[in-house]
Amino acid sequence: NSGKYLVTGGAGYVGSVVAAHLLEAGHSVTVLDDLSTGFREAVPEGAEFVEGRVQDAGRVLDASYDGVLHFAAHSQVGESVQDPAKYWRNNVGGSIELLGAMREAGVRRLVFSSTAATYGEPLRTPITEDAFEAPTNPYGASKLAVDHMISGECRAHGLAAVSLRYFNVAGAYGRYGERHDPESHLIPIVLQVAQGRREAVSVFGDDYPTPDGTCVRDYIHVADLAEAHLLAMTAMTGGDSGESGPGEVPPGTHLICNLGNGNGFSVREVIETVRKVTGHPVPETPAPRREGDPAALVASAERAINSLGWHPSRTDLAEIVDDAWDFTQRYTGQAGTS
Ligand code: UFG
Repeated sequence: NSGKYLVTGGAGYVGSVVAAHLLEAGHSVTVLDDLSTGFREAVPEGAEFVEGRVQDAGRVLDASYDGVLHFAAHSQVGESVQDPAKYWRNNVGGSIELLGAMREAGVRRLVFSSTAATYGEPLRTPITEDAFEAPTNPYGASKLAVDHMISGECRAHGLAAVSLRYFNVAGAYGRYGERHDPESHLIPIVLQVAQGRREAVSVFGDDYPTPDGTCVRDYIHVADLAEAHLLAMTAMTGGDSGESGPGEVPPGTHLICNLGNGNGFSVREVIETVRKVTGHPVPETPAPRREGDPAALVASAERAINSLGWHPSRTDLAEIVDDAWDFTQRYTGQAGTS
């Protein structure tokens, strides 16, 4: 039972991995991406590619689509603090246009790429979806605003939607992996040090109230994350057998689920794992805390497990790092590719 899906941001890290999974499951996929931070060559073979902004979704969508998976967004926390308007304009403005285009075309299913940054500094961990939402930066605030916008659209116009709140996405899926420019995420940076492309990794703060003083994060394999997106769509369409839906997420409902492993690893543990996996020395230098970094972010993914039937299977940090290392060595590092 194959479907037809629009993937916004399908030339980016998570979007390309999800698009590849959809194609492998036999669905047809159109990728809409303006290539502002994505890469044309990251769009999986077999997907139709339309170069354009989310605001152009109306030109693509028609009633033949079964649903939309919406990834296209700016996602740098630091940049969002420097240039908040960029985040409101693109992340919030783009999503308003997308919801309007979906309504117009009669496309009534949406999976939205939300984030743990909607919670801000957590009062307790693991974080459940009913935790207080107090984002500490415009990136998280813009994603939370879109979550509210989606809830309203569901109630008013019968949309069915699932927002997936990612914790720290990591790892790679074959030739689909993480390559931001400039890179700000911990694992790809540490791998660049292992590769010899950077001299050392700066450890941002070692006096946090955590076991070794460095920040703790919940790293989730991008392929496990991708599988949750297919399950979310199945919960809305009913899938092949109807076993898991559409009861879970009928029209008019908005389900919000965290996606993480429920295990936290410190910055030091990540660096140590990279040393073990790559066999390379990784020099580290102490650095001041990075503004806006919570001490520990660990997910409770009980809801995704119970409501979507999700079973993350790549929860070992060494395996996550190994897949990212494989991608880093094969597909990054040459001029113009990273
Ligand atoms: N870190 C370092 N040195 C570096 C880079 C990062 O010590 O060179 C530390 C950070 O201070 C943090 C941890 O490594 O404690 C992880 O940092 P990342 O930048 O890899 O990830 P974040 O936890 O800051 O951010 C991630 C996503 C964001 C999202 C956020 C909350 O990248 O998009 O989780 O969900 F908003």
